[in-house]
Amino acid sequence: MTGKICGTGSYVPPHVMDNDDMAKLVDTNDEWIRERTGIARRHVAEQETTSFMAGQAALRAVEQSGIAPEEIDMIIVATSSSETIYPCAACEVQKTIGAVNAAGYDLNAACTGFVLGFNAAQAYISAGMCRTVLVVGAESMSHMIDWTDRSTCILFGDGAGAVLLRAQEGAPVWTAAHSDGKKGPALTGLSRHRKDWEKEGEEKESYIHMDGQAVFKFAVRKVPEIIEEILEKSGVSADEIDYFILHQANRRIIEAVAKRLKIDISRFPMDLEEYANTSAATVPILLDEMNRQGMFRKGHKLILAGFGAGLTWAGCLFEW
Ligand code: UT7
Repeated sequence: MTGKICGTGSYVPPHVMDNDDMAKLVDTNDEWIRERTGIARRHVAEQETTSFMAGQAALRAVEQSGIAPEEIDMIIVATSSSETIYPCAACEVQKTIGAVNAAGYDLNAACTGFVLGFNAAQAYISAGMCRTVLVVGAESMSHMIDWTDRSTCILFGDGAGAVLLRAQEGAPVWTAAHSDGKKGPALTGLSRHRKDWEKEGEEKESYIHMDGQAVFKFAVRKVPEIIEEILEKSGVSADEIDYFILHQANRRIIEAVAKRLKIDISRFPMDLEEYANTSAATVPILLDEMNRQGMFRKGHKLILAGFGAGLTWAGCLFEW
C-alpha cells in the first residue's frame, strides 16, 4: 500500500507586503531582492496564527478529498513557528476539522519538515498502521525574523499547505533523508530562554540567523545529490519525472539544481515570487496550486525535495 494524494489545500494570509514595502523598513530595493532571490511579494499574517492557517489549509484538503474527517487516522503538522509549544498545532487542526479519531503531533525540521512528514505518512501507510493521513506544513515566519535585518527579513513569508493521503495499491514511493548537525550554526532560530546563554552573558534573540552563502552552497550541492540518490534507488530516470517540486527558498538555488542535473527548468515549478520562503509550507502550497490548476494527471511522476536548518534535507518520488 502507498499513500495517494486525494486532496490538497492551502491558506495564505490576505495581507501582502511587496519589495517596495520592505524597502521602507530596511536598506534594500525591489531590483536587489528580485535579482538575488526571485521574490516579489510575501503574505504576512496579521491576526492569523500558525495553527489557524494549518487548520484552514487542512479544511480545504479534506473538502476536496470528499473523505469524512472522522476517517483520518493521523495528523502531522510540520512547523517550527507554532504560537504554542503545546497544545501542538496538529491537535488544533484536529479540533478545527473534526478529525475526532486521529492522533496528531508536530514535526520540527524547519524547511525540510513537510517532506519528512510526507515520508513518515507513507511509512505509516505502507506498514499498515494508518489508512488516511493528513500532512500539513504551516509557518508564521514573520514572528521568527528580525525585521531590521535586511539579509533575512526579505526572504520569508507566512502560510500553510496540506495534503490528505489515503492507502491504495499503486507504484512504490521512494524516499531519502539526511541531516548534518555539525553544520547547524549556518541557520539558527534561537529561543530566548536558554539558561546557558544567560550564564555566558551573551545576547541572543529568538530571531533567525543565517550564513546565507553557506546555506546556498549546501542546497545547491545536496539537493541534486538526494534527487540522484532517489532516482538510483527507484530505477526511474530523470527524463521520466514530470515535475521536481523543490522547497521555494530562492529562484537561483532551483535554477542551479536544474542546471547541475541537466534538466530543463520548465520541470521545476515555482511560486516564490508571490509567497517567498514559507519554510515547511512551500512544498504543500505549491502542490495545492498546481493541483487546483489541473497540472497533475494520474500516473505523473513527481519528486519532492526539501532542505533547511539542521542542516536537514529530504526527498521522495511518487506517482500522482
Ligand atoms: O529555507 C532555507 C533558508 N535559506 C536559504 O535558502 C538562503 C540561501 N541563501 C540565499 O538565498 C542567498 O545567500 C541570499 C539571498 C540570502 C543572499 O544573496 P547573496 O547573493 O549570497 O548575497 P550576499 O549575502 O553575498 O550579499 C551581497 C551584498 C552584500 O553587500 P556587500 O558586502 O557586497 O557590500 C550584502 O550586504 O548584498 C548586500 N545585501 C543586501 N542588499 C540589498 C544583503 N541583503 C541585502 C538586501 N538588499 N536585502
